Amino acid sequence: MSDESSTVLTIDRDRFHADFDTLASFGATAEGGVDRPAFSADHQAARRWFARRAEEAGLVVEVDGASNHSALLAVPGAEKTLVIGSHLDSVPTGGRFDGAFGVMAALEVLRRVKESGIQLSVNLMAIDFTDEESHYVEFLGSRAFTGKLPLAELQAPHAGRMSDAIAGLGLDLVAMANCGRDPQEYVGYLELHIEQGPRLINSATDIGIVESIIGIRFHRLVFTGQADHAGTTPMEIRRNAGLGAAAFTVALHELLETDFTDCVGNVGSMVLAPGVTNVVSKEAAVDFEFRFPDENRGDALEAQIKDRARSIAERFDLELEFTPMGRARSAQMDPALRRIVGEAARRLGLSAVSMHSGAAHDAQIMSAITPACVIFVPSVGGISHNPAEFSTREDCENGANVLLHTVLSGFGG
Ligand code: HGY
Ligand code: MN
Ligand code: MN
Repeated sequence: MSDESSTVLTIDRDRFHADFDTLASFGATAEGGVDRPAFSADHQAARRWFARRAEEAGLVVEVDGASNHSALLAVPGAEKTLVIGSHLDSVPTGGRFDGAFGVMAALEVLRRVKESGIQLSVNLMAIDFTDEESHYVEFLGSRAFTGKLPLAELQAPHAGRMSDAIAGLGLDLVAMANCGRDPQEYVGYLELHIEQGPRLINSATDIGIVESIIGIRFHRLVFTGQADHAGTTPMEIRRNAGLGAAAFTVALHELLETDFTDCVGNVGSMVLAPGVTNVVSKEAAVDFEFRFPDENRGDALEAQIKDRARSIAERFDLELEFTPMGRARSAQMDPALRRIVGEAARRLGLSAVSMHSGAAHDAQIMSAITPACVIFVPSVGGISHNPAEFSTREDCENGANVLLHTVLSGFGG
């Protein structure tokens, strides 16, 4: 598709790619990805740049109590708002597309609609949600937006201290927990994202229309044994907490490979204390997550995981503490929005398929208060959360155009 040669309105592809490339310079890593954990200096710089670009386009920028950055194209007389966006934070050593693509496409859609003079029936908001990657608190920004973020979670983040993270940013935890919006003011949420898996690329399909998103739970297991001299203590009487952590990692993998093949799980961190080779480990803290298609399966898997952990603790004579560290419920995407996305893809001559998302998205949080849908474009090699994450320019343009036309046909004046 060309920008101006056809009567079909399309994004300004040069502006879009130029902005996308500039964004990727914030927190750029030598491997070609980005390292922009929530509230890091590079994340903050990227967000300020996004806000500047939005202001330059004549959009109204707002930063709410949870530091969600948004740009608004207000429509005179419109009472409700359609939100489109994603997130500018990344996992450590992440790729440049995850989240960033959706925010840049959202900004481009607002600019294009504004330039076209087309009057929508709703206000259009482009949003960059805070901490989608759950560095401090899972889905901090979207949960705050929906009014479902308890202060207690902000006071006990996964990493460090929130008060340190937000120092100097004019934010406070109470305001974060209290910046929920009135759901009545919103008509929906659309998120354009890379697939982060191989299905679209392997089937040469242009667009994925997400029908459901996995549920996810984060937990910490702490095995406690006894510190002992690693040279003199007989092997058979050691109470080595590290053994519990290692056995649990294998047991989780085996459980998922046998009885829960529709679920996935991952141990992401294992910290041994005191953490030196000449002392038998007294403590092992294991942070892990598991994901499942629906909450019943999540409950069943959680029960089995706890059983396995208890057996392991018994086998190695360890104490065990199990702490939930947060969750996001599985979610269905809105059938009406999915239909509009499908029609937009068809009209643009793009192939599309309905699919499940194994990656979590702010859309599943937003779906609790407003109809939501995620649109996928192919990920080369299915690689993500990796600097090699890549989607072609053409696929990115296609996705942005589908987003644009979903907005126009679903919410045109
Ligand atoms: O972890 C996820 O699925 C997402 O990338 N935050
Ligand atoms: Mn991600
Ligand atoms: Mn993402």
